[in-house]
Formats: sequence, structure tokens, C-alpha cells
Amino acid sequence: MRTQQPDDERNPIEDEKYDITDPFRYFRVGEENIGTQDLVNSELLSVLPGQHYSLNGKTLRLEFESNNEVQGSISISLQVDASPGCGGIVWPAGQILSSYLIKRGSELLQGRRVVELGSGTGLVGLIAAKLGAGRVWITDQAPLLDIMQQNLSLNSLQRNCIAAELDWGTSVPASLPLPDVILAADCVYFEPAFPLLVQTLDALATERTQIFFCYKKRVRTADKRFFGILRKKFTWQEVTDDPNRNMYNRENITLIKLSKVV
Ligand SMILES: C[S@@+](CC[C@H](N)C(=O)[O-])C[C@H]1O[C@@H](n2cnc3c(N)ncnc32)[C@H](O)[C@@H]1O
Repeated sequence: MRTQQPDDERNPIEDEKYDITDPFRYFRVGEENIGTQDLVNSELLSVLPGQHYSLNGKTLRLEFESNNEVQGSISISLQVDASPGCGGIVWPAGQILSSYLIKRGSELLQGRRVVELGSGTGLVGLIAAKLGAGRVWITDQAPLLDIMQQNLSLNSLQRNCIAAELDWGTSVPASLPLPDVILAADCVYFEPAFPLLVQTLDALATERTQIFFCYKKRVRTADKRFFGILRKKFTWQEVTDDPNRNMYNRENITLIKLSKVV
């Protein structure tokens, strides 16, 4: 297995060649990559604020602290399974976006229609459902449907959450209405998918849609290309009201809010 080199030793041309042949290489922390457990010895753990986890078999239980006394802490149980691809485990960007939503409290999402793109285990969307969103669609490619479905049942969120297949760049299913809020975590890593992701964001968003987008900068020209494509349809600004921002920025993870250009 090829491991990631320190940024200053990396050759961007080689980097991009490997991006095509092995798009998941940035994500592998160890051979037994089944969730947060792999991050125990990693600095990344320090960017996962206000939460505790335990792993029992392949069920990960995450407990997020909230600063809202009425809400108390929010816990979520997730089946994690690396076999359907990188989405079967939980990524720091997803945990950071979840922590942010919890900090914002239910006001942002109460009664809203929410779509999460590239949900993987469904974590971020399930948190939105727990925070009182009117209806949440957790979406991903077909191989992730089972794990998303299991996780929404595991958390008894069938009342206001639906798992749906949504492959970026394909037509949005008719059952999926235009959302008030779009959520996406760690969806920028595979260059051929960049225009497809932007196409789907464009198909789902209006100028009123609130879009929270948490991503890890991987210091390569491909990231710049993504933002080059994105800027044709969206503007963005960094979310600055997250007290944990400096902590995860140091790990090159950034939370931005996108707005559709009219
Ligand atoms: C790194 S994982 C992030 C998963 C989750 N958001 C998290 O933060 O834990 C990227 C996710 O994007 C999904 N994805 C990649 N390409 C996609 C595409 N063309 N259409 C839909 N989802 C896609 C993957 O299946 C995976 O679940």
C-alpha cells in the first residue's frame, strides 16, 4: 500500500497519477480501517471535538456534547463497514460537520427539508434528523444504500429520514424535492467526480438553499480545480462561528457555506 507523503515532499504530477489509480489512498489509516478506532493514535482525533465513542463489533456509538441544556448530549449508533468503499466508515469531516450542527442547535434545521450528499454511513443526515429536521434524505451511491438504511433503523429515525440513491451527475430522483439545506462532508477527493458533484449541487440548490460543505484540503492542484469548477455556479465563505474552527483548520479541514449564484 502506498502511504501519503508529507506535503513538502509530494510531487503533484505523481500525486494526480495516483489519484486516478487509487482515489482512496488518502483515507487509509490502517488495514483494519473500520471507523474512528483507527484514529486513536492519530493527531486527527484532536479535531473531533466534544464527542466520545465506543466500538462494539462493527457498531460505532458516537456521543456528541451539546451546549444546549434542553437538548443534552446527542448519541448515534452506526454500523461501519469498509467493504462498500470509503463511505462505509466515518470521516473526521463528517464528525466536524455533525458537531457544528449540534452547536447551532435545532433552530437551523427545525422543520426543514435536508439532503445530505455522499452520506456514507449517514452520520451527518441522521444528526440533522435528530435535531428536528422536517425530512432528511441521506444519499449516496447504490453500494452504500444498505448501510444507510440499517443506520437510520438503528437510530429509529424512519419517521423523518429516508435513504436514497443519488449518484452525482445523474438526474435527481423525482421523489426528492428541492431542499432548504444541503449537507456534504468529505466529498472532494476524486477528480473525475468534481464536475458531477457540482452538477448535483446545482440541480438541487436555489439561491435560498443553505449549503454546509466540510472538506479536507489535500494540498494538490486537484483541489484548486474543484473550486475552479465550483465558482462557476457558487460563491462560498468560511463558517466562522464554530469555536472548534482553529483546531480542525490546523488539520486542513475547513467548513464553508456555499451560495448559489443567481
Ligand atoms: C470520504 S466519504 C465521506 C462519507 C461521509 N460523508 C463522512 O464524512 O463520513 C465520501 C462519500 O462520497 C460518496 N461518493 C463518492 N462519489 C460519489 C458519487 N459520484 N455520487 C454519490 N456519492 C459519491 C462515497 O460513496 C462516500 O460515501
